[in-house]
Amino acid sequence: MASVDEHIEAGKERFLSELLDLLRIPSVSADPKYKADVARCAEAVGQRMREAGLDNVEVCPTAGHPIVYGEKLVDPAKPTVLVYGHYDVQPPDPLELWDSPPFDPVVKDGLIYARGSADDKGQFYMHVKAVEAMVRTGNLPCNVKMMIEGEEEVGSTNLGAFVRANRQRLAADVVLISDTAMIANDVPSINTGLRGLSYLEVEVTGPDRDLHSGVYGGAVANPVNVLCRLIASLHDADGRIAIPGFYAAVRELSTAERAALAEAPFDEAAYMKDLGVKALAGEKGYTAPERASIRPTLDVNGIWGGYIGEGAKTVLPSKASAKISMRLVPDQKSDAITQLFVDHFKKIAPPYVSVKVMPHHGGEAAVTPTDSAAYRAASKAMGETFGRKPIPTRGGGSIPIVALFEKVLGLKTILFGFGLDSDNIHSPNEHYGVFNYMAGIRTIPKFFRHYAELCK
Ligand code: BES
Ligand code: MN
Ligand code: MN
Repeated sequence: MASVDEHIEAGKERFLSELLDLLRIPSVSADPKYKADVARCAEAVGQRMREAGLDNVEVCPTAGHPIVYGEKLVDPAKPTVLVYGHYDVQPPDPLELWDSPPFDPVVKDGLIYARGSADDKGQFYMHVKAVEAMVRTGNLPCNVKMMIEGEEEVGSTNLGAFVRANRQRLAADVVLISDTAMIANDVPSINTGLRGLSYLEVEVTGPDRDLHSGVYGGAVANPVNVLCRLIASLHDADGRIAIPGFYAAVRELSTAERAALAEAPFDEAAYMKDLGVKALAGEKGYTAPERASIRPTLDVNGIWGGYIGEGAKTVLPSKASAKISMRLVPDQKSDAITQLFVDHFKKIAPPYVSVKVMPHHGGEAAVTPTDSAAYRAASKAMGETFGRKPIPTRGGGSIPIVALFEKVLGLKTILFGFGLDSDNIHSPNEHYGVFNYMAGIRTIPKFFRHYAELCK
């Protein structure tokens, strides 16, 4: 029988073409017009899990998009790893900025271009192929359970209920998730924290209809002007968020913790060049990597109102809106921060407009331990693949389910991501390296082996 590594080497081309097939399914969870495609993707994922050798594979319906579950239980005495991932993807817009169609994957210069290639189809599918390699070669040293959901990009609305209803089925020793990034292909790292999220929409209404901006302008408040002023007031001159109580629960890092995080290499000039910005901005007293990971933020994600068509139309709009996200850190609570925002925004609204604040989804921040058997196993596995010990880093994105796994199942997570920040996730031309894909598939079985060893 072949070894795990031999099976992976021999399967390389097939693993890639299978991933490309998955990437052709436009499983956009946010847009109802893709509902059938999301369902088709769930079925495809279930089928691939069966083919990989997982048992009891089930495509579980929810009030939203399905959750795909499968397991391979080898021995109750062995530790159990719960793999989580998501098969849904972000909307591909703006389409005109893609160099090739988002759901027509192409491999160019070693990179797989498609929506979902890095986030998260290319990453969760590494686990399916790693399990295949371990099962087919008789080398699965742990029990494995796999849960791949279809609503991560829209806030995992129905996952909480599923986890609560399936506590027994999901019982495990650790959660393994590949849905984050490393520092670089020659600088492996493991995320040990994620930010939480509070997402809401605001609407400012002035006059009950659009008005002529000459006839009424000056006498009636313009909701777009007012919204801009309100939003501008949400940060102070030091880049801090000016909502009373916003920082009350923030867990400050010790000097030693900050020094440890500063060990990760960071090239500010290269960072600015890559993003096309001439200078960086943010909260006073913190470095750029800190501002983007251990500090909370408030950002407008979209803003609209009034005339945005061709040419000029002189109009004083009736309404203005914005979508606002706040990234949170331990121990800020998403619901509490949402409430603070709602109260504050209503309070600062001037009497000549009315405001509505509509909360969307949220989620809690998470930190994962570096002193566990699972972390040591992950670190050892990555070290072997990359020839260098991974650096623990804090990530800036959010995977709200991580906090939920801890709360409901009592499980810690290993964020075993193989992407790069430069993969353009959520952006045009999202891509994932074939190198990263294969490195993940090779490293996951090493994690299983070391974890089983360390749990003995
Ligand atoms: N995989 C990302 C989260 C991520 C990316 C974490 C990079 C760390 C590094 C995930 O799919 C995602 O996009 N999450 C959303 C949150 C969700 C509630 C919509 C996010 O972070 O915006
Ligand atoms: Mn993701
Ligand atoms: Mn995402």
